[in-house]
Amino acid sequence: MLKPTQAQVVSTLRAQGYHFRGFQFSVEDPCSAEDVDWNYKDIAHPHFLHRHVRRCYAFADADGYSCIDLHRVLGFQLAQSVSTWVSGPNRLTTQTVSFFLIFLIEVSIEDVDENRARTTTRYEIGATSRPLLALAFPALKWLLQRNCNEFLREDQGMRVRRGELRRQGFRFAKHGIASTLQISANNVVPPAVPCTHGVTCIDLTQRDGRMIQIGRSDHFGLQVALQPDRVEIYPRLCPHEGACLDALHAPGQPAIQCPWHGRSFQPIVTLAYTQTPTTVLGPLHRFVLTASQLRIEPLGYADRTTPADWTRWRPPTADLGVVSS
Ligand code: FES
Ligand SMILES: [Fe+2]
Repeated sequence: MLKPTQAQVVSTLRAQGYHFRGFQFSVEDPCSAEDVDWNYKDIAHPHFLHRHVRRCYAFADADGYSCIDLHRVLGFQLAQSVSTWVSGPNRLTTQTVSFFLIFLIEVSIEDVDENRARTTTRYEIGATSRPLLALAFPALKWLLQRNCNEFLREDQGMRVRRGELRRQGFRFAKHGIASTLQISANNVVPPAVPCTHGVTCIDLTQRDGRMIQIGRSDHFGLQVALQPDRVEIYPRLCPHEGACLDALHAPGQPAIQCPWHGRSFQPIVTLAYTQTPTTVLGPLHRFVLTASQLRIEPLGYADRTTPADWTRWRPPTADLGVVSS
C-alpha cells in the first residue's frame, strides 16, 4: 500500500508545477505518544467532541481513512474531502484540496519524557501561482492555526485523562484506525491492585435522583443514584478507552452515556428499596441494602488472573451470584 510522507507528496506535486509554503508548531500533552497517536486514529470521537464539524466517513481500514467534513460557515454548509493515512510510526499525513489550493498536513508524535508527548503539526500549502500563494498565505496560516487550536482544545481532556490513568498503572490495547469504531470493545487494561477505596455506607434518606460517587474514577469507582423508588449503581470508568463517566444526576433514561464515543451503560446493579436486608455481588463489590442504608464492600482484586469487566452485573454463578440474607 502506498503511504507517502508529506515531503514525498510535496516533491511529487512540485514536479507538476506546484509551489509550496509551510509552517509548523508543536504542543505537549501530559500523556504518552501512544495516547496522542490513538487520539488521531480514533475516528469515533469527532462526532461527540468536535461538534462544529460533521464527519461522514467514506472509507477506513487499519492505516487510513477518507471522509467528507461538513463545516458551517456564515450560515452555509461547506463540504471538504479529507484523506488521512499512517505514513510512519506515530505519524499521520492528511491531504485536502480547496479550489486552486492543496493542503498537506502531517502530525509527528514523540515521547519527550515519561508520560509527556510532543506533537508537531506541519502544514504545507500548495498552488500553481507563486504570487497568489504569497498573498493568501498569512490569512490561511492564521485560519489553519485557529482551526487546529480548536481541535486540540477539544481533544485535550482525552489526552490528560489517558495520562492520569497511565500514572495509575492502566494500559490500553492498541488497534488500527477502523477498529476504533468498535465502541463495545474493552480496550482498558487495569492494573492488578487491591481496591482503591474502603467500605462505604450510604444513607438512603434523600432519594431525589442525586449521584453519590464512591472511590475515584477508576475500575473500582462507583456512582450510586438514589432514585425515589430504587438504587442504581453505575461505573465511573469506561472500559472502552478510559473516559470518566461521572454524572451529577441520575440519567433520565435507564443508562448513562460515555462522553467520548457514546457507549451506554446500564446500572451494574439495581435494587428496589426493601425492609428485608438484601445482599448482591457485583463484579468487584458486595452490596448490602437495608431499610436505611446501602453498604458497599470491596471484594479485592489483586488475586484475579484476568481483568473483569467492571461495568456489568454478572448472572449468578457458583462463585459470583445473587445472595439473599
Ligand atoms: S471511552 Fe469510548 S465509549 Fe467510553
Ligand atoms: Fe480529536
